Amino acid sequence: MKVVKGFKLLGVLGLALGVSLILGATNPASAESPANVTLTSSDCVKCHAGPSADIAKDGAGHKKITCQDCHTGHRPESKNNIPLCSQCHSGKKHYELKGCLGCHKNPHAPLNIILARNITDACLTCHTQQMAQLREFKSKHTNLYCSTCHDVHGKIPACTQCHKTHYAEQSAADCKKCHKAHQPKNVVYGKDIPNKDCGACHKKALELLSASTVKHKSLACVYCHQNKHKVVPKCQDCHGVPHSALMMAKFTKCADCHTIAHDLNHWSTTKKEEVKHTRRTKKKR
Ligand code: HEC
Ligand code: HEC
Ligand code: HEC
Ligand code: HEC
Ligand code: HEC
Ligand code: HEC
Ligand code: HEC
Ligand code: HEC
Ligand code: HEC
Ligand code: HEC
Ligand code: HEC
Ligand code: HEC
Repeated sequence: MKVVKGFKLLGVLGLALGVSLILGATNPASAESPANVTLTSSDCVKCHAGPSADIAKDGAGHKKITCQDCHTGHRPESKNNIPLCSQCHSGKKHYELKGCLGCHKNPHAPLNIILARNITDACLTCHTQQMAQLREFKSKHTNLYCSTCHDVHGKIPACTQCHKTHYAEQSAADCKKCHKAHQPKNVVYGKDIPNKDCGACHKKALELLSASTVKHKSLACVYCHQNKHKVVPKCQDCHGVPHSALMMAKFTKCADCHTIAHDLNHWSTTKKEEVKHTRRTKKKR
């Protein structure tokens, strides 16, 4: 270990010597005073291949400036030629963050951003809508960090990365028909929901409706339960009151005769079942 360190130190000393040699070579007047030497960007690459290559490849906006716009001076005269971001970036909320290099790991490739897993506040310097939604519609997502889901900037995760589907044949693309990531419990949907999507959790309703023999059978769950989860329509919304006031005075509720929407003949079918059942048991006897 010691040996390696020694070699490294030697290498650095050699490089430093190299600097003065090259500087000396480009400007004879600088032999005693290297500080007078003017370096150009084309000089830097001779010793610093890495940063030059990074800027050429991923420099983005930093391609518009030279090495020396940021690194004024050089060792040994200049003890610290590392710029502060704030020299050039100021006047936006984002530029008031601490630790720019924590995310912009490499200033020579400033858009190669690496996010830690626990970031929320920094995102809010540019995106405010999402947090507003997460707070308005409280759910367990509200307490997650933004970067728990968006671990790479701009990446949209699939729900199925962290959750199971409601039933086997459902796909990741289906989730968005009912859920939005920043308000997952506010379930709203359009008209294109197949009955089995609801049936995944409401087995009984699906079974009753599918087995029913009246015209409701051919209707979609979401034709009646429109738009928002847990909305329950009234029979009268669609039918008004198609019976005489006299009759309705005696039997005040539609359900008194029509039982439930999913099986308007529920009682009669139950009775039929009972009849079948007694017949079967009779036969057996
Ligand atoms: C002849 C080789 C050579 C040339 C040319 C050269 N450097 Fe250096 N540079 C060095 C050495 C050696 C170090 C010191 C490395 C260390 O201490 O780890 C260094 C260090 C640096 C550092 C690190 C900051 C610091 O103070 O430790 C920066 C930034 C830097 N150089 C920028 C530049 C820029 C910009 C140019 C072109 C204008 C340039 N260098 C040209 C050899 C060179
Ligand atoms: C936008 C400003 C900016 C520009 C332009 C820039 N640098 Fe840097 N450079 C920095 C900052 C900031 C650091 C310190 C990085 C750190 O601390 O991790 C740095 C670090 C360095 C270092 C020392 C660490 C390393 O990565 O080896 C060298 C050498 C260097 N730059 C060379 C160059 C060269 C050569 C160029 C031109 C091709 C250049 N830089 C252009 C901002 C800049
Ligand atoms: C010497 C001035 C200077 C310094 C110092 C500087 N930048 Fe820049 N930066 C610029 C310029 C100029 C642009 C291009 C702006 C434009 O295109 O409008 C830029 C653009 C950027 C961009 C956007 C790149 C793009 O293509 O959209 C990022 C990110 C960035 N800088 C981050 C940083 C960070 C982080 C630091 C500190 C490590 C830093 N800059 C230091 C001058 C600087
Ligand atoms: C938590 C991570 C994080 C931190 C810390 C951070 N940035 Fe950024 N920065 C980003 C992301 C993400 C973007 C958006 C990149 C894009 O548009 O692709 C960005 C974009 C930028 C841009 C270009 C777009 C713009 O609005 O100007 C600049 C310049 C910039 N950052 C400078 C800085 C400076 C300066 C600091 C420190 C004061 C800093 N950043 C701290 C993540 C961060
Ligand atoms: C400096 C401003 C800035 C910061 C900070 C920032 N973003 Fe962004 N973000 C942008 C911009 C600008 C875009 C649009 C880029 C594009 O369209 O390519 C974007 C795009 C996105 C997208 C993709 C949007 C889409 O429609 O595909 C997501 C997701 C995202 N950001 C999440 C985040 C998260 C999470 C954070 C915090 C870790 C964050 N951003 C930090 C500026 C920022
Ligand atoms: C539970 C995972 C999760 C969390 C936490 C999360 N997002 Fe998202 N985000 C997503 C998904 C998934 C999308 C795609 C749109 C959708 O499904 O509703 C998205 C979309 C986005 C977009 C694109 C525009 C939009 O609104 O659709 C931005 C920007 C964004 N998120 C930023 C953020 C920010 C900022 C935070 C933290 C305040 C955050 N997200 C928290 C999963 C998440
Ligand atoms: C990075 C992982 C991750 C992603 C991606 C993600 N979630 Fe979650 N989600 C969670 C965690 C963690 C919880 C909380 C689980 C717990 O505590 O039981 C959660 C909880 C939920 C809950 C229950 C909320 C509550 O308050 O009870 C719903 C609904 C939900 N997620 C839907 C989705 C949907 C839809 C998507 C895609 C748009 C999605 N999630 C994407 C991690 C994720
Ligand atoms: C037809 C609409 C619909 C679709 C499509 C849908 N969900 Fe749901 N999801 C719901 C409803 C409704 C709830 C229950 C909300 C409640 O309890 O109030 C729920 C609850 C959840 C929960 C909370 C835990 C639980 O099981 O009760 C998670 C997680 C979830 N969904 C993830 C997903 C994922 C992942 C997908 C895509 C594969 C998806 N959902 C597709 C309607 C849907
Ligand atoms: C992930 C499971 C899940 C899915 C998928 C789901 N629901 Fe629900 N649903 C629930 C839960 C849990 C309740 C609350 C049950 C309770 O309170 O007893 C509920 C309640 C209801 C209620 C009753 C509200 C009340 O006041 O009694 C209706 C109506 C309803 N859902 C319709 C639907 C429809 C229509 C769909 C398809 C678009 C659907 N559900 C999809 C889980 C789900
Ligand atoms: C969202 C609208 C909607 C709601 C709510 C609704 N229905 Fe219907 N109903 C229909 C439609 C559409 C038909 C079929 C009409 C046709 O094909 O002529 C129908 C048919 C019927 C029929 C005739 C059945 C047959 O096979 O001839 C009865 C009886 C009926 N509904 C009673 C009810 C009762 C009772 C309720 C409440 C428990 C109710 N409906 C709720 C839309 C609705
Ligand atoms: C006293 C029992 C009773 C009550 C209460 C009752 N109905 Fe009926 N309804 C019937 C009978 C019987 C029929 C005819 C059944 C048939 O033809 O199969 C009928 C038929 C209907 C039809 C089908 C009409 C058509 O033209 O095909 C609709 C729709 C209907 N009822 C809706 C309602 C609604 C809505 C309510 C509550 C406001 C309600 N009913 C209350 C007994 C009742
Ligand atoms: C014709 C309209 C209609 C259709 C189609 C319909 N519902 Fe309903 N649903 C209602 C009405 C009206 C109620 C209120 C109770 C009643 O009067 O029967 C209800 C009640 C419910 C309830 C709460 C009570 C219970 O039975 O648990 C759930 C859950 C439900 N429906 C789910 C579904 C599902 C899932 C589907 C599709 C398989 C569906 N509904 C199809 C009209 C309908």
